[in-house]
Amino acid sequence: MRVAIIRIFSRHVLILMRVPGTATMLDDATLLESVERALAQAIDGRALAPKLAEAMRYASLGGGKRVRPLLAIRCGLAVGAPDASALLPAAIAFEFIHAFSLVHDDLPPLDNDDLRRGRPTTHKAFGEALAILAGDGLQSLAMEAALASPRAPERVAIEVARACTDMISGQVYDTLGGFPTGCDAPADRLALIHRNKTGALLRGACRVGAIAAGANPAMLERFTRYGEAMGHMFQVVDDILDETQSSQTLGKSAGKDKAQGKTTYPAVHGIDRSRAFVQQLLDEALTALSGLDSASDPLRALARNLATRTS
Ligand code: IPE
Ligand code: IPE
Ligand code: MG
Ligand code: MG
Ligand code: MG
Repeated sequence: MRVAIIRIFSRHVLILMRVPGTATMLDDATLLESVERALAQAIDGRALAPKLAEAMRYASLGGGKRVRPLLAIRCGLAVGAPDASALLPAAIAFEFIHAFSLVHDDLPPLDNDDLRRGRPTTHKAFGEALAILAGDGLQSLAMEAALASPRAPERVAIEVARACTDMISGQVYDTLGGFPTGCDAPADRLALIHRNKTGALLRGACRVGAIAAGANPAMLERFTRYGEAMGHMFQVVDDILDETQSSQTLGKSAGKDKAQGKTTYPAVHGIDRSRAFVQQLLDEALTALSGLDSASDPLRALARNLATRTS
């Protein structure tokens, strides 16, 4: 949104009004094209070892829903950024962290997956050593991207770093357990895993978008609450899809959570209660935006789409 000063009847009455700007009319496909370009440029703009660059490109380009960069950009536009350009460094930083998390998540000591985004996982295509190193490279490239944010680069970088560390905590709980003292109930453990392994990146993506657009503390708090609800919801849906969809639909191996004895929402609460919980989290996400103008409509639509997605 931008602020327009409107003079009524050419008298002295001035009204400050928020009117739709071109930014809110940008469609997702256009935004995703610029995300794809920015990701590729960030890798190609560095003189990396050719093998490393190839594996990093494989792990991060040409696939994926791009939920995290889209959240960052849409939150920034909702706050009032005129277009996506100043938001892109923060947005791609989160996609690089996400890509890194997937490469390592698929490795044999973690989930041991062969299929990702409809293709062989990075370690299947390049070998384990290069996959580990490509994950490492994606993580540090994310920090380079964050520090290239034209606005508040240090704040953006600390958000990316903290969210990444929290994601790794979540992966440890998911894979190895070792929960903090007092976190004994399965439902509490589940919430702790999901808030960290997935929630932290979606929450952080929303926050950096808002920060890179100059949000005031109250606005930042709203987008933080939206991001927390979205992050939690996203993983509950992922758990449901793992049980209810085919590998072909998902582009990754379905049914593995049960086979590996993972602590998931369907495992702890059953499918019906998991679906009800998705609805509750969707409501929480929408409530966080209540009272905001139409610049937040794409975020509302994204929340509904992610609650009802089937792949
Ligand atoms: C998969 O994330 C891993 C989770 C955190 C659930 P996405 O579903 O966003 O994966 P891509 O990026 O679209 O492949
Ligand atoms: C992954 O959760 C969360 C990450 C930090 C990558 P999952 O293990 O459920 O993700 P998928 O189902 O393999 O994409
Ligand atoms: Mg996993
Ligand atoms: Mg996995
Ligand atoms: Mg999963």
